[in-house]
Amino acid sequence: MSQLVVMGNTSLKGEIKASGSKNSVLPILAATVMIEEPVVIKNVPELRDVQTMISILQQIGKTVSFENETVTVMPGEILVGNVPYELVKKMRASFNIIGPLTMICGWAKVGKPGGCNIGQRPVDFHLKGLEAFGFRITEEHGDVMAVIPNSFEKEIVYALPFPSVGATEQLMTTAALMEGSTITIENAAREPEISDLQNFLNACGAQIAGASTPTIKITGVRNLHGSEYSVIPDRIETGTYLLGTIATKGDVKIHGTRSDHLISLLSILEEMGAGIEKGQDYLHAFWKGPLKPVRISSEPYPGFPTDLQPIITAVLATVEGTSVIEENVFENRFGYVDELNRMGARIKVSSSHANICGVDKLSGAEVVAPDIRAGAALVIAGLAADGETIINNVTHLFRGYERFQEKLRTLGAKITFYPDEE
Ligand code: EPZ
Repeated sequence: MSQLVVMGNTSLKGEIKASGSKNSVLPILAATVMIEEPVVIKNVPELRDVQTMISILQQIGKTVSFENETVTVMPGEILVGNVPYELVKKMRASFNIIGPLTMICGWAKVGKPGGCNIGQRPVDFHLKGLEAFGFRITEEHGDVMAVIPNSFEKEIVYALPFPSVGATEQLMTTAALMEGSTITIENAAREPEISDLQNFLNACGAQIAGASTPTIKITGVRNLHGSEYSVIPDRIETGTYLLGTIATKGDVKIHGTRSDHLISLLSILEEMGAGIEKGQDYLHAFWKGPLKPVRISSEPYPGFPTDLQPIITAVLATVEGTSVIEENVFENRFGYVDELNRMGARIKVSSSHANICGVDKLSGAEVVAPDIRAGAALVIAGLAADGETIINNVTHLFRGYERFQEKLRTLGAKITFYPDEE
């Protein structure tokens, strides 16, 4: 397995720039399926998941180029409504293409994504929403088939059972081209990535309002035109470096950030006693003395982001006293805890709660990364620990963090990557 070897007792210090948002650019790229003019997307991070989405767009007939953080999507002659499972299984977000592709081709067949280490992650809200729009949905041999109705109802209202990010993005994008209909999505997700997708679609001529609130209204249009759009910075990447700075008693400035996207994290960091300075477009974190234990529950936005849950747990593992984390978004997101306990942490998990008894110091060990964010948590634990930490299965990290090692080295980390032998 690929490995990262991390030297401990490292204090992260210096300045870096935030990358563009992975979880924003993926649904935006999926939406380009519906645009039959050139689209230019800027501030795109160089990540495996972005490459996977680009392969899917090329697979269905688009011409796509990617250089200097800029993706250009040129319209294709004929689009193919078929996205095979071998591409979908690499990245769940590719399922977001089924609605937009059906709008353009009249039908689409997309492999149904399976679960992953953090939960079963069904797509029933996506499918029920498309059925509420009038789509005919069938499933066969692990694929989902969607067929467009002859006409759309004038008024459509669909309430999500849970504010799912993916389902909100899928339905909002699909509805953009449902000419003659007014669609209301209730209990919608409110993440900043939803607003970014709305702003992108509106820049292409869509009529969408209400992103960042629980109610999104879409007035369908006949077609969308090309545009140039720059993606928001990655708030989860920024949060990871802020937490890494505090875990290693460091001092780091991150440029090109949006502090308004990280309010829940910043207030927790202040409650813990970390030094935080918010600038116009930068965030500065610094150690200013022993931290206090806290209680956190991960929730849909604007609550504390579930993607930072493993990383703040790695910080709290060495905060004196008892901290409690409650995970309310995914049913199996403590899979990394045994790995932290191998490094000397004292964390007990019972159903959706983790009880963390802070220890003075972690010690380096060999561990395995179960997913992207847990991988980042183990790297940060390793930087703060005594000795050397060997993290296996780190390819996850390259799916979610741009130039991770490079940025960490800029901040003083001693970190070495060993690719898979095969
Ligand atoms: C997005 O996943 C993010 N991924 C995830 O980040 C993030 O953890 C998650 O939102 C929550 O913030 C991308 O944006 C590409 P959901 P998504 O639909 O859309 C259940 C990372 O590390 N659910 O909001 O898949 C689901 O099982 C990744 O960057 C259904 O039951 O998340 C989960 O428990 C990890 N049925 C909850 O809702 C459905 O049809 C939230 O899932 C859809 C979701």
